[in-house]
Amino acid sequence: MAEQFDVVVIGAGAAGMMCAATAGQRGRKVVLVDHAEKLAEKIRISGGGRCNFTNVNAGPANFLSDNPHFAKSALSRYTPQDFLALVKKYRIAYHEKHKGQLFCDDSAEQIIDMLRAECDLGNVHWRMPAKVDGIARDGEQFAVHTHAGTIHAQSVVVATGGLSIPKIGATDLGYRIAKQFGLGLVEPRPALVPLTFDAQQWQPFVPLAGVSLEVDVETGTLKGRNATGARFREDLLFTHRGLSGPAILQISSFWQPGTPITINLLPELDVAQQLIEGKGTVKKHLGNVLAQWLPARLADGLLQAHAFHADARLADMPDAQLRRLGQAINAWTITPNGSEGYRKAEVTRGGVDTRELSQQTLMANKVPGLHFIGETVDVTGWLGGYNFQWAWASGVAAGLAV
Ligand code: FDA
Repeated sequence: MAEQFDVVVIGAGAAGMMCAATAGQRGRKVVLVDHAEKLAEKIRISGGGRCNFTNVNAGPANFLSDNPHFAKSALSRYTPQDFLALVKKYRIAYHEKHKGQLFCDDSAEQIIDMLRAECDLGNVHWRMPAKVDGIARDGEQFAVHTHAGTIHAQSVVVATGGLSIPKIGATDLGYRIAKQFGLGLVEPRPALVPLTFDAQQWQPFVPLAGVSLEVDVETGTLKGRNATGARFREDLLFTHRGLSGPAILQISSFWQPGTPITINLLPELDVAQQLIEGKGTVKKHLGNVLAQWLPARLADGLLQAHAFHADARLADMPDAQLRRLGQAINAWTITPNGSEGYRKAEVTRGGVDTRELSQQTLMANKVPGLHFIGETVDVTGWLGGYNFQWAWASGVAAGLAV
């Protein structure tokens, strides 16, 4: 016998639990279905185990989407302060770390427990672990086919997330359901992900693995009506295969395959000017001069990579050479050959095309009763608590509508 509910939420992650709790607390009969053995694994591992659960500065400008206006409605109706009020209600200790990012003092588990308690307040039913294979229209309602039987409901909310980290349960179910109902997709792509380089090109930088420093990084066009690029000042980390760290994760979401990124390794210093001015007064070797400003290992590595001798005397070097070195440090331009992919990506860029959905309710315009929320939708936040804020806000928007 198929079970009957008002609402089936597929995916008990951040967005799904928020949506189920909201709808349940409005008196709707809700069931949450998830195939994972362990609840909300992505929340558990987020923020290094402390969950960067929101960003106090979160606004539409912190999100990428083919339609940058789409997220405005949900984000303005459920704000970071609203989520913070919930965190405070549950007496979860938190702190602000960097640029408005809020983290739990103790553990991400507290956020999971809080969301589960909110679901309990809404008498939400659970089917877990229960994989969902697909859904079908059944007259006025939907039939949701799960490994724990078929469920009927007037509303289905798809909250199955993106493709990142398949080993903890990511699937393409959300995209398959969208396609099945004729909805467009913006091509999904790994985002907030380390970037990789051609092995031969990267060879000179391999010994720098582990070096970290604050940089400016940019890609794409930054000005004008067609601006699709971005610039961030954050920490960069050299790895054996390429570049990582917050600066690179941020820029990876904007990076287009085949195009370069430009890194300013000393954003507060005009290196060429300093070197040229220093010629008259400094009798030092190039390696020592650079080591005043950069980690010594990086200074040595950069000189080697750009074919300079660390023991060359600054005073003996032609200005043109010093300008070339300055350029290599202040505007290092390099083209990634790809990324570490979904295995390492924190999120998936792209997803269900927002033109197919209502901004207010996240319901598909041409499929009454079918909603998409969270990372499944083509709304992708920057690094720093923005993706959870979108999960909460879109979850609430749909939860109030179903
Ligand atoms: P989410 O992925 O959370 O949930 C989807 C659910 O659907 C899962 O429980 C899955 O098991 C289930 N599911 C999938 N297919 C199914 C099927 N066929 N049948 C049944 N169930 C199915 N963001 C942030 O703001 N701050 C942070 O600190 C971090 N940190 C972070 C660290 C790491 C390592 C990662 C990978 C990601 C982050 N993020 C983050 C991003 C954040 O985790 C992410 O954006 C949200 O979890 C998205 O929430 P959703 O509910 O949309 O999907």
